[in-house]
Amino acid sequence: MSTETTFAIPLAEIPEGSMRSYPVDGREILVCRVKDRIHALDNICTHAFARLDQGRLRGTRLTCPLHGASFDIRDGRAHPPATQALAVFPTRIAGNTVEITVRSAEAGP
Ligand code: FES
Repeated sequence: MSTETTFAIPLAEIPEGSMRSYPVDGREILVCRVKDRIHALDNICTHAFARLDQGRLRGTRLTCPLHGASFDIRDGRAHPPATQALAVFPTRIAGNTVEITVRSAEAGP
């Protein structure tokens, strides 16, 4: 079973070339804006535990501050030392608002 939550934020909260994290249903979602496109991913590195909003965003490449793994914000693809992709979430720009839909799997009984 999975749950789905859609949250909305003002587009102005994410200036071009920047990123910001938001708490959603007990997890942290990182929202990035590059070339007027919005990308949403998990904020926690898949290699160990580090918050990616403390890292560096250059173009579509997001670099972890702890051991230097990087991720493509368009599809979450990982580059070493991380091997597991980040979860990515659908986004939609509606006027001056960004809508992000977060799906999370729940463990069954
Ligand atoms: S925790 Fe991110 S690269 Fe190790």
